[in-house]
Amino acid sequence: KTNLLTLADGNKMPQEGFGLYKVDGQDTMTNAVRQAYKDGYRLFDTAQLYGNEGQVGAAFEQLGIPRQDYFLTTKVSEANQGYDSAINSVKESLRKLRTDYVDLLLVHWPIQRAFFDTWRALEDMKKEGLTKSIGVSNYQIIHLQYLATKAHEMPVVDQIELHPRLTQTPMLAFNQAHHIVTQAWSPLGRGAVLQIPEIQEIAKRHGKSTAQVILRWHLQRGVSFIPKSVHAERITQNADIYDFELSSNEMNQINALNTFSRTGREPELTYEENRQY
Ligand code: A2P
Repeated sequence: KTNLLTLADGNKMPQEGFGLYKVDGQDTMTNAVRQAYKDGYRLFDTAQLYGNEGQVGAAFEQLGIPRQDYFLTTKVSEANQGYDSAINSVKESLRKLRTDYVDLLLVHWPIQRAFFDTWRALEDMKKEGLTKSIGVSNYQIIHLQYLATKAHEMPVVDQIELHPRLTQTPMLAFNQAHHIVTQAWSPLGRGAVLQIPEIQEIAKRHGKSTAQVILRWHLQRGVSFIPKSVHAERITQNADIYDFELSSNEMNQINALNTFSRTGREPELTYEENRQY
């Protein structure tokens, strides 16, 4: 059911995934993964920072889902930047996830310390087979341009905060031009965009929920998106977006809701080296 996107390195990635941020507790985790898998989600997104990689690994083991049947993302936390620390931390992540590879490994935040060493570690981990693809998270244009000055391989995914109050149109255009897939975290703005009257009106017209309309907007924009829920009916609802279409008028209406509002923090842009970019 879920669309597959082809990444710049030739690997395929499901367009819709399941976000595991703040999914906590083994029973909650196992129930959420079971429901999501049943509903057709095949991408599962965790991070070292979420502190739940062990629960994710245990859930897939308990459910007996073969490793090749799901796409797994994790992220190197800020604390683990640096060549050796990044590699050691990913080996630890793989132990917790009970697997010998992830499908996608991301640098969680752009930070100045060990900026290039960390990326070189990811390039090498891809060569070693610890991950199939490498990418970044929370990178703005300036960070990608800076990375491009020394990278041997560029990220194939940039996962950023993106929802109707933070539409990220310039970032999307930049990523498209550079064959980087944009992936939306908090695609529902952590729930804060579900009450927007314009979206409620569109939802009513299609007989869908506001969450479904927003996820459909992501889908039609060609971005990848990873909604999170720990409620079975919402997990199911968020995967049920393939039987209606938003008109270009409706797409534009949602694009116009941008207020540059972040639920998370602003990626820092203060690198000395960045001044020229
Ligand atoms: P919950 O896990 O309690 O269901 P995002 O993915 O943008 O971070 O948003 C996730 C937030 O939105 C969570 O708080 C989640 O709560 C809630 N949520 C997810 N799907 C839906 C939905 N279909 N309807 C209402 N709230 C939802």
